[in-house]
Amino acid sequence: MRVDIITLLPGIFDNVFAESVLGSAIRNGLIEIVLHNFREFGDGRHRTVDDTPFGGGPGMLLKPGPLISCLNDVRQAAQPAPVIGLTPQGIRFDQQVARSLAGYSRIILVCGRYEGFDERIVNEFDVQLSIGDYVLTGGEIAAMAVVDAVSRMIPGTVGRQESVEQDSFFDGLLDHPQYTRPATWEGQVVPAVLQQGNHAHIESWRRSNSLLRTAVARPDVFRAAAVSESDREYLQKVMKRRH
Ligand code: ADE
Repeated sequence: MRVDIITLLPGIFDNVFAESVLGSAIRNGLIEIVLHNFREFGDGRHRTVDDTPFGGGPGMLLKPGPLISCLNDVRQAAQPAPVIGLTPQGIRFDQQVARSLAGYSRIILVCGRYEGFDERIVNEFDVQLSIGDYVLTGGEIAAMAVVDAVSRMIPGTVGRQESVEQDSFFDGLLDHPQYTRPATWEGQVVPAVLQQGNHAHIESWRRSNSLLRTAVARPDVFRAAAVSESDREYLQKVMKRRH
């Protein structure tokens, strides 16, 4: 997969893309990241990319000219790709969106700075993505989150694809609790069922803990999850026991 990132701060990505899972995915050719600094398309001697908003108001907006010239250049550099703007006004980036983006052979991410984009830039986006209901100083950290989550969905990036399939949200539920050695640590004991090695019992323990965690911590995620009749019966039993 090729990811083009349009930004004023290309250097900010260096370490994130050099290390760990992303670093090896890039070295192994599974992902190609191409950074583009739209400052190079800025106006005049100072390569200006922003200006004050019409109608007044605080801060500066990104002008359409430099960024869209850069975007047009990037669009022409390889095969067609969706143009994704990172903005707090976008649709919420979640595991489902990550999975659908992983199906593309190329995506273009556009990172803003300052108070925002002139609306004529926004008109160039096929979709806007937000990583949460808070305002970052720019889209770069959001772009890193998108690249990181999407790259894990590309076969070969994570050692064993089963580990991706068992991730929180993969099947629409939060992950169940997990333990490693030692079996007892500072008086806290790993649940006996996990130590006993009966796979059917382990699966049922994991499923029920995922269900319970999701129902309690994220009722919104729970409502959208594929929950079976037997899952519901289990939860009703647990809830009754608790009251
Ligand atoms: N740019 C600024 N805030 C953002 C957010 N929450 N998500 C995506 N891009 C952003």
